[in-house]
Amino acid sequence: MVQFNLPDNSKLVEGDYYKTPSKSNNIKNFRVYRWSPDDEKNPRVDTYEVDLNDCGPMVLDAVMKIKNEIDTSLTFRRSCREGICGSCAMNIDGTNTLACTKAIADVKGDVKIYPLPHMPVIKDLVTNLKNLYKQLKSIKPWLIKKSRNESSEENIQSRNEREKLDGLYECILCACCSTSCPSYWWNSDKYLGPAVLLQSYRWLQDSRDEERKERLKELDDTFKVYRCHTIMNCTQACPKGLNPAKAIAGIKQMIAQQ
Ligand code: SF4
Ligand code: SF4
Ligand code: FES
Repeated sequence: MVQFNLPDNSKLVEGDYYKTPSKSNNIKNFRVYRWSPDDEKNPRVDTYEVDLNDCGPMVLDAVMKIKNEIDTSLTFRRSCREGICGSCAMNIDGTNTLACTKAIADVKGDVKIYPLPHMPVIKDLVTNLKNLYKQLKSIKPWLIKKSRNESSEENIQSRNEREKLDGLYECILCACCSTSCPSYWWNSDKYLGPAVLLQSYRWLQDSRDEERKERLKELDDTFKVYRCHTIMNCTQACPKGLNPAKAIAGIKQMIAQQ
């Protein structure tokens, strides 16, 4: 059961039905969450008929077709349409994922599309990620060198050192993992959540970084890391096939071994 941050005293109601004029026998229904702060209406689910014979293969293709041809008021984020930018993350068919890499053919029946769960909704499928970005900033997601190298030589890594970043550097910060984590749902003000913790581990594992001790000291807090109860939703949700739960376990181990 997916839960959403809905405006106070509001409940989800059935919205409008947009019938396609197409006579195709390949029509699919897309049921999309709608809410706008600009009117007094409840959140609703609108249904759009889309002719799949005249649409690209991915859910994002259908969402863009709806906006371009049926209902220009539909609001969502997207940029790369290649699974690189992370901006099209939404809840499709009950799972947090990227609309641009989710094939329509993989969804049986109607395609249900909601914003990322448990996040404040700005409009329709756009959620407010300010808290996540603030948490990201707090872990200093950049290389810190105390001994500044004035000779402008490269920071060399061995092959083995570089390999330690595999499975970490690929994170696109889409937030699919954090918004599927029950601990993050209930404690996002204090718990950093899987996306930010995987980023943190990426810098803890970087052989060139000289801030490791301070980074671990900052993380050693009852809430920041230890709200993770290894439920593994995060790892199941990651559309890039990464393992944030393993990264969090790695952080806990590094703190214990200090
Ligand atoms: S393993 Fe930890 S971070 Fe991942 S979903 Fe579970 S509690 Fe959240
Ligand atoms: S770990 Fe995966 S799900 Fe989480 S933010 Fe990074 S790419 Fe997205
Ligand atoms: S549009 Fe960039 S990841 Fe989907």
